[in-house]
Amino acid sequence: MKMPQTPLAAIILAAGQGTRMLSAKHKVLHAVGGKPMLSYLLETVNSLNAARAVLVVGAGKDQLISSYPNAEFVTQAEQLGTGHAAKVALDEIGDFSGHVIVLFGDTPFIPAHTMTAMIAGMDADNTGIVVLGFRPKDPGKYGRLIIGADGSLERITEYKDATEVERTVGLCNSGMMVLAGDQARNWLAELKSDNAAGEYYLTDLVALARRDGMNVTVVEAKEEDVMGINSREDLANAEAVKQSEWRKTAMAAGVTMTDPSTVYFSHDTKVAADVTIEPGVFFGPGVRIEAGATIKAYSHIEGTVIRAGATVGPFARLRPGADIGEGAKIGNFVEIKKAEIKEGAKVSHLSYIGDATVGAEANVGAGTITCNYDGFLKYKTEIGAGAFIGSNSALVAPVNVGDGAIVAAGSVVTKDVAADALAVARGKQREITGHAAKFRTDKAAEKAGK
Ligand code: UD1
Ligand code: CA
Repeated sequence: MKMPQTPLAAIILAAGQGTRMLSAKHKVLHAVGGKPMLSYLLETVNSLNAARAVLVVGAGKDQLISSYPNAEFVTQAEQLGTGHAAKVALDEIGDFSGHVIVLFGDTPFIPAHTMTAMIAGMDADNTGIVVLGFRPKDPGKYGRLIIGADGSLERITEYKDATEVERTVGLCNSGMMVLAGDQARNWLAELKSDNAAGEYYLTDLVALARRDGMNVTVVEAKEEDVMGINSREDLANAEAVKQSEWRKTAMAAGVTMTDPSTVYFSHDTKVAADVTIEPGVFFGPGVRIEAGATIKAYSHIEGTVIRAGATVGPFARLRPGADIGEGAKIGNFVEIKKAEIKEGAKVSHLSYIGDATVGAEANVGAGTITCNYDGFLKYKTEIGAGAFIGSNSALVAPVNVGDGAIVAAGSVVTKDVAADALAVARGKQREITGHAAKFRTDKAAEKAGK
C-alpha cells in the first residue's frame, strides 16, 4: 500500500547578484534553448506537486516578478549567505512539518527523478537531511562532502574553509538538499557566520543535524545535471549540453540528421519520425514538423508548422505563423511569415510571402514579393488553388488572385484577379528595328571625339 505523501515545500534561491554574467538581465532569466533557465527548474518543481514553492529574490526581483506573475516570492534584502536565504524563505512559509527541498535558481537542470530520489531518502529512519552530491571532473572550489568513519556524511566544508587534505576529496556539494521542515527551522536559527566568507552557510546544517543525532545521507547526481550557470561561458556550456540531449532524443525518435552537431533546437521543437534535417539548421521556439518532411541545409525556422512530406530550404527563412502544407515546397532564399502555404504548393526561389494564403498546388514564381506593409498597417494577399504567379511579380496587398488564375511575369498586381483569368500588369513590350546597332555606332563616334 502506498503511504500518504509527506507534504513538500520548495525553496529556490535566486537572490545572488549574478555579477559574473555582467548583465542587466537577471541571471536566472538567461535562456537555454530559447527558455529562461529558471523555467526549467520551476517546471520540474511543479511536477512534484509541492504544497509551496518560494523564490528568494534580491537585486533584480522586479524582473522575476514580472516574468513569473503567479510565483511566490520573498525578498532577501541583504545576501548574507545560502543559510540566511533559506531561513528567510522558511520564515515566509511558516509552520511546516513536511520535507523542504532547497534549490538554486542558477542550477536549473536537476531531473525530477533526482529530486524524487532525494525526497525518498528522507523516509529512512531518523533522517534529517539528504544532500545532493556529485563528483565533478574538476572539483575546483565546490564545497566538499566529508564522510566520517561510519561511512555517513559528517559535515560539508566550504572550499574557502577547507584544509589541504579536505580539498583532495572528490565528492562535492551541489548545494541542493532536502531538510526535515521541523528541525530545519531550529538549525537555521543557530547558524553562525564565523567562517572564511563571513556568511551563513546552508551547508553547516549537516553538522547541526549530526549533533542532534539525526542521519544525513547523500544522493549522487551526474555532473551535467547539477551544472551551475554563473557566466556566459557556463551558459554556452549549458546550451551545448542541452542541444546534445535534444539531438539524441530526436535521432532516437526516428529523425535523420546528417550532421547533428550543426543543428540547433529550441526547448519545444517537435520533430516527427522520418523527418530529415540537413546540416546548419536553426530552430527558434514554436516549431512542429510532421513525418516525412525534409529540412534542407542552412534554414532558419521559428513559430512554424511544417506538414507531412513538405520540403524546406536550403537557405529558407520561416518566421512565426508560417504553415507549410503537406507536400508543399519552400525553396532557397524564400522567406515566409504568417502565411499558410497549402498542400502541394510551391514557392521555390527568392520570394517573400507574408500575411498571405497560397492555395493548394499553386506555383509562386522566382522573386515574387507580397507587398504586405505600407509603413503603417499590414494587408493580406490571397492566392487561389492552382494559381500561377509569374516570376518577379509584386502582389500589392490587400489583393486576391483567384483559383487557377495566371499572373504574368514581372507584374505589379494592385487589383484582384478573377479565377482562371490572366493578369498582365507591366509595361507593354515594343521593338525598334536596328536601333541597338545604330546606338552603338553613334556612341562609339561620340567617344572618339568625331
Ligand atoms: C554553494 C555551496 C557549496 C556548493 C556550491 C555549488 C553553501 C554555503 N555553499 O556555494 O558548498 O559546492 O554552492 O554551486 O551553500 N543565494 C541567495 N542568497 C544569498 C546567497 C546565495 O539567494 O545570500 C543564492 C545564489 O543566488 C545562488 C545560490 O544561492 O543561486 C548559491 O549561492 P552561491 O553564492 O553561488 O554559493 P556558492 O558559494 O557557490
Ligand atoms: Ca555558485
